Amino acid sequence: MGFSRTEKDLSRVHIRWMIRRDMPEVLNAEKESFEFSWTEDDFLRCLRQRNCIGMVAEQGERVVGYMIYELHKCKLHIMNFGVHPRCRRRGIGKQMVSKLISKLSSHRRTSITVEVRETNLEAQLFFKSQGFKGVRVMRSFYEDSGEDAYLMRYSLRGEEFSEMEEAEDQVAPFRD
Ligand SMILES: CC(C)(COP(=O)(O)OP(=O)(O)OC[C@H]1O[C@@H](n2cnc3c(N)ncnc32)[C@H](O)[C@@H]1OP(=O)(O)O)[C@@H](O)C(=O)NCCC(=O)NCCS
Repeated sequence: MGFSRTEKDLSRVHIRWMIRRDMPEVLNAEKESFEFSWTEDDFLRCLRQRNCIGMVAEQGERVVGYMIYELHKCKLHIMNFGVHPRCRRRGIGKQMVSKLISKLSSHRRTSITVEVRETNLEAQLFFKSQGFKGVRVMRSFYEDSGEDAYLMRYSLRGEEFSEMEEAEDQVAPFRD
């Protein structure tokens, strides 16, 4: 069941950069969110890269959501993203994606992409509700389960998916 507006207002979060101290709470939310969850090493290896940024959503003293994304020349790419199961359907994911959308600009990074597992209907519905569209099926994208990924994309310009833009930016799978 959905939450009323007042309950959603109560779920307003503070979004900030992820710091090392957040890791235990992030790992806990990650474990609760995914069957094939990232380890601490996966997070650290990713965050060590120059173009990789971690953000968290904080409510009071608690980290309730996290996102790792990459900066590319023309777009942002979401690598990992979760809201703690206890805090879902309260608009927290939406606030985090809105924050990311606010980082786009018409003359530089104009889109956001994310790969979603074919079985992850909840995330597909979530991203669709935030204005993302499915643009490509990536066959057997995940080594762990062999599942396909749906590449979903949000575009500031709302233009058709541009293969050229995609070729320029190349989405690299994290676990290859
Ligand atoms: C996807 C996820 C981050 C969404 O976070 P959230 O905070 O629950 O999302 P929000 O409350 O902001 O949802 C916004 C809207 O998205 C849609 N939505 C979200 N979850 C949904 C679900 N389970 N089923 C259908 N629609 C859903 C709804 O339209 C919702 O608005 P509403 O609650 O007013 O109906 C969260 O479900 C999650 O952590 N899932 C597990 C990890 C995951 O799959 N991450 C994405 C990997 S690509």
